[in-house]
Amino acid sequence: MSVPPSSLALTDISPLQFAVTPNPSPKSDAERAEILANPGFGQFFTDHMAQIHWSERGGWHRASVEPYAKISLDPAAAVLHYAQEIFEGLKAYRHADGSIWIFRPDQNGLRLQRSARRLALPELPLDAFLASLDKLVQTDAAWVPDGGETSLYLRPFMFASEAFLGVRAARKVYYFVIASPAGAYFKGGVKPVSIWLSTDYARAGHGGTGAAKAGGNYASSLLPQQQAYEQGCDQVLFLQDGNIEELGGMNLVLVTKDGTLITPASDSILDGITRDSLLQLAQDRGHQVEQRPVAIDEWRDGVASGEIVEAFACGTAAVVNPIAELKASDFTITMPELAAQDSVAMSLRKQLTDIQYGRAEDTHGWLRKVVDAGEQR
Ligand SMILES: Cc1ncc(COP(=O)(O)O)c(C=O)c1O
Repeated sequence: MSVPPSSLALTDISPLQFAVTPNPSPKSDAERAEILANPGFGQFFTDHMAQIHWSERGGWHRASVEPYAKISLDPAAAVLHYAQEIFEGLKAYRHADGSIWIFRPDQNGLRLQRSARRLALPELPLDAFLASLDKLVQTDAAWVPDGGETSLYLRPFMFASEAFLGVRAARKVYYFVIASPAGAYFKGGVKPVSIWLSTDYARAGHGGTGAAKAGGNYASSLLPQQQAYEQGCDQVLFLQDGNIEELGGMNLVLVTKDGTLITPASDSILDGITRDSLLQLAQDRGHQVEQRPVAIDEWRDGVASGEIVEAFACGTAAVVNPIAELKASDFTITMPELAAQDSVAMSLRKQLTDIQYGRAEDTHGWLRKVVDAGEQR
């Protein structure tokens, strides 16, 4: 019989000890340096990966850091059929003194647990999640780039590995973390984006999996994202009941002329950690913050009346990306052009990246140090 998700935590074996097997043939210093000089995004991977197994009988076990390698799966593995899969995305940053820090990993760990609950996967204890990131980054510390807005992108993910075609929660699960060096998202300075409003497709529905970081949500966003490209836009915005939700991979925030930040409250969007951090920094500065349903008409009418002066997207990859225009099949919203020094979005972006790269004080305790200055290389 399948164990209900609420009782899965009882089978945890914690704390886990990670067995580290060094890669016998890692990339050479020269090969790594060549990759780090121009890493792009998501194309190159470090020499190692972390993994933990879970089974209904044994709980979490076999924690390891191993050479990066292909995963062998039975063709009947449940994930390949029923998409029982979730993931996370966060970054490790190198500071000027060489030390390495991860931004708010506890929040990603808690979100992974919430996603797991929704997808009937076991919840990974927070200490095991943090240890998996620490161990991998420490092992592959030489892969954390320095300079500009570069970072090491961390991709934890968990999926149903049990070979069984019945439609029920899997009794065997794999959790992995892989890491990929990331170059600056904006090479020649931040570039405002244009957004396509999808009215043909929804990303998620009430009671669905929109609030979880589940692979299936992204699969359903690909076709509308293609439509956005066909319309000459960079990203797609989803609606629900006439209210704005989020982009395919970023949250959305509007700014009024008196500096109030307005962002959708919805049970079907991802609770972004970047958005939460920016809203906190804005509140620290005395801005009002409103998290509530936001009708698409409110955005359109607000821009027409001069009440809404900025719109921006935010997420781990780009941090903050101002929006230049929103195109829909029957109307276009064109945002006012603002100089960077007048933009709340750009000012918050700078404050957040200064914290992430250690150039400003981390007053909220958001950074977790994983490698000391001088400890590596
Ligand atoms: C659908 C979606 N919404 C919002 C976000 C922003 O979340 P975060 O700020 O935690 O990266 C992401 C990116 O991860 C996303 O994929």
